[in-house]
Amino acid sequence: MIQDNFVNRVAIYPGSFDPITNGHVDLVKRGLRMFDEIVVLIAYNPNKVYLFTIEERMEMIREIFSDTKEVKVDSHSGLLVDYLKISGANIILRGMRALSDFEYEFQMALMNRRQTKKIETVFLMSGFKWFYTSSKLIKEVVSLGGTVKGLVPDNVNQMLMQKYNIKNNNNGRE
Ligand code: PNS
Repeated sequence: MIQDNFVNRVAIYPGSFDPITNGHVDLVKRGLRMFDEIVVLIAYNPNKVYLFTIEERMEMIREIFSDTKEVKVDSHSGLLVDYLKISGANIILRGMRALSDFEYEFQMALMNRRQTKKIETVFLMSGFKWFYTSSKLIKEVVSLGGTVKGLVPDNVNQMLMQKYNIKNNNNGRE
């Protein structure tokens, strides 16, 4: 028998989101079929140099999900597991694109679980359309004058053009 005692299922979706892409947005929307609330958490990856400030990244994400009350946005500069402890959540949500993501994700999931046994990482396969979308490539393409329209939300596209001081990034390309 299915129990209908209400349990608020919260997942923390951590990442750099520098910037958020349509692949990330798709993952959040699909994640909401499994969780009642998703916290998009801008966490610190010491191996990355960021283009956007935390505030800029948070603002872009807030705008994108302004109509979805089940999505919260937050940031954290310490260990991810500490954020989970403080917030009382025990699920980490991550996306997996190709096999190349697997080792990195597997290492992080096991290291996080080693810190706190209660934590589980749930992976969603990236949507097929977004297999080749990464924040890194998005920045590279825009910085060199290419277009990423359709791969990122419109507000992100505008912010990217502003950052790279590009007036119109179509350049005659579709
Ligand atoms: O989008 P990214 O850069 O692949 O996300 C990686 C991120 C930010 C989730 C990861 O670096 C992280 O969890 N940072 C917080 C610090 C931490 O807990 N590090 C140990 C990870 S096992």
